[in-house]
Amino acid sequence: MAKKRILSGMQPSGLLHLGNYFGALKNWVSLQDEYECFFFIADWHSLSTLYEDPHRIKEFTFNVAVDWMAAGLDPEKTTMFVQSRIPEHAELHLILSMIVPVPWLERNPTYKEKQDEVKNVDMSSYGFLGYPVLQTADIILYKANFVPVGVDQEPHLEISREIVRRFNNIYKKKVFFEPQAKISGTPKLNGVDGRKMSKSYNNAIYLSDTEEVVKKKVMSMLTDPARQRRNDPGDPEVCNLFPLHKLYSSEAMQQQIDTDCRSAGIGCMDCKKMLYESMMEGMRPHMERRREIVAKPKDVEEILEEGNKKAGQIARETMKEAQSAMRL
Ligand code: TRP
Ligand code: SF4
Repeated sequence: MAKKRILSGMQPSGLLHLGNYFGALKNWVSLQDEYECFFFIADWHSLSTLYEDPHRIKEFTFNVAVDWMAAGLDPEKTTMFVQSRIPEHAELHLILSMIVPVPWLERNPTYKEKQDEVKNVDMSSYGFLGYPVLQTADIILYKANFVPVGVDQEPHLEISREIVRRFNNIYKKKVFFEPQAKISGTPKLNGVDGRKMSKSYNNAIYLSDTEEVVKKKVMSMLTDPARQRRNDPGDPEVCNLFPLHKLYSSEAMQQQIDTDCRSAGIGCMDCKKMLYESMMEGMRPHMERRREIVAKPKDVEEILEEGNKKAGQIARETMKEAQSAMRL
């Protein structure tokens, strides 16, 4: 029986942080055996925010690929490729844009949310409004069955299904399949300041941070704001650190901290030191693999080249079918 196909992408709009890892990447790694996986770097999508600094995209793309491989994406099992190397994404995006009603895009909740989140860039562009149309092209070019994404992407997948139905209806042929989201991962991780971890908030811990930088960030983390003095009892449930203990520390340590925090038996400094140690245990292997991979940039390029070739073949086949349905 053929494996079902999975496809997902990440924007190279910055370095990957722990939110990206626990929200998506970790899950992708676990899907590689059961599914035929395609993961791509959505560099054209990142132009929606980086159009004034496009020169930064190349370096971010390289670093995203490095973090993917360091985290365990295996080129023997998984196809990794770069969106802009496959011109069919742009071609299909254009064709779809002719049949997508603008109100579908205007009522997309992530459209408004992102505009509120990103403050330093004018996000009123035509391209940003069409973000989900390009995302649809990304997915349906490969006839992916499942798209592993965070909850925030569910509205985009809904738009994708609507676009597929509209295309197949208008051209009277089932060229495309309706993709399903495969939601998983930690819903959201907070940054050092207690807001959602995001590069736009400058509060993230990056997969490429050094040990010293991680330490500095952990030691500066916001804790339970009600715990002003060492003798005040705290509440791990409202503390910004505890979610990270849940991801990195042993069950026993979590319980100990929970008890000691509530009775003021432990200070926040001690708690942070323990967290740092736990995090290092988890992050050190990634850091080491990262160093090895970065030392061989040619290998990274080659893996992406291979992926581009494989993806390009499939994309061209699908475009032929679309053109024939449209009798272009
Ligand atoms: N919008 C996704 C994000 O920001 C990235 C993305 C672009 C994507 N194209 C995609 C995800 C196709 C899944 C499938 O996280
Ligand atoms: Fe948070 Fe730990 Fe301080 Fe409790 S002891 S408030 S869990 S940092």
